[in-house]
Amino acid sequence: MRFSVISSLFALAATGSAAVVGKGKGKAGGVGPAAVKPDILLVPGAWHTPAAFDLVRDQLTRRGFQSTAVPLLTGVPEDAAAIRAELEKLVDAGKEVMVISHSYGGVPAAAAVEGLNLKDRAAQGQKGGVLMVVHMTSFAAKVGTSLMDSLGGNPLPWFNITGDILTPINPVKVFYADVEPKLAEKSAEAILPSSLRAMTDKGTFAPWDAGFQMGFIHTEDDQAIPIAIQKQMAAQFPAGSFSATLKSSHSPFLSMPEQLSEVIEQASVFAKKP
Ligand SMILES: *[C@@H]1O[C@H](CO)[C@@H](O)[C@H](O)[C@H]1NC(C)=O
Repeated sequence: MRFSVISSLFALAATGSAAVVGKGKGKAGGVGPAAVKPDILLVPGAWHTPAAFDLVRDQLTRRGFQSTAVPLLTGVPEDAAAIRAELEKLVDAGKEVMVISHSYGGVPAAAAVEGLNLKDRAAQGQKGGVLMVVHMTSFAAKVGTSLMDSLGGNPLPWFNITGDILTPINPVKVFYADVEPKLAEKSAEAILPSSLRAMTDKGTFAPWDAGFQMGFIHTEDDQAIPIAIQKQMAAQFPAGSFSATLKSSHSPFLSMPEQLSEVIEQASVFAKKP
């Protein structure tokens, strides 16, 4: 295997899947009801369009997951509203949703889930809601602080700030070092400029402090967000949160979509249903 997951996760995932088989619920000798798989809502980082997730979404489809990817625009409030609109469509349809954010996307994704925790909705007799918020090498900014604040106010070395426009310097190296070269080149060409404001807008809600189930997918060979910074983000999450590590660059959805889909499935099995 090219990735490793903390060993306790395997134990918990095994327990989870055993429970899901539901012995005795079906006809004698039959198989129990299949677990309902959550919908997967993918939130890109800065500069990336939803098309960046096409490969991993194909893999999720093979595993029986429905997925959606949200296009982001210019700043945290606008991007949070775009995510919220997609999320509400799913929740209103009674879906259980795992929100998976990449990189910058963690800041608006956190704001977007406020009030939609599956557990809280179930307690009020409502169907659907957010089952888990998973940060995939993604920023977790405290309420009232920005992505830039969570870097101690120091722009990452590969930030190219020109006025209020932010672009990455050398995206092939920084984002796609382990991606097949042609795909890396194509992905770099697809990069759109981001507003600098996306990095300085403040977070408004911290699901990890508000009873949401959380997860973090670490990427060990990440040259955009070093693993040490990822660990600082994840350290804010409650004990017992889902955690996995891929031996990947910043973009496992391009370099190892199959393994990433497996980790997402593990997170879905790990998540406790209300
Ligand atoms: C930084 O961005 C500006 C315009 O957005 C561009 O002209 C310049 O070449 C970039 N610098 C690097 C080092 O990529």
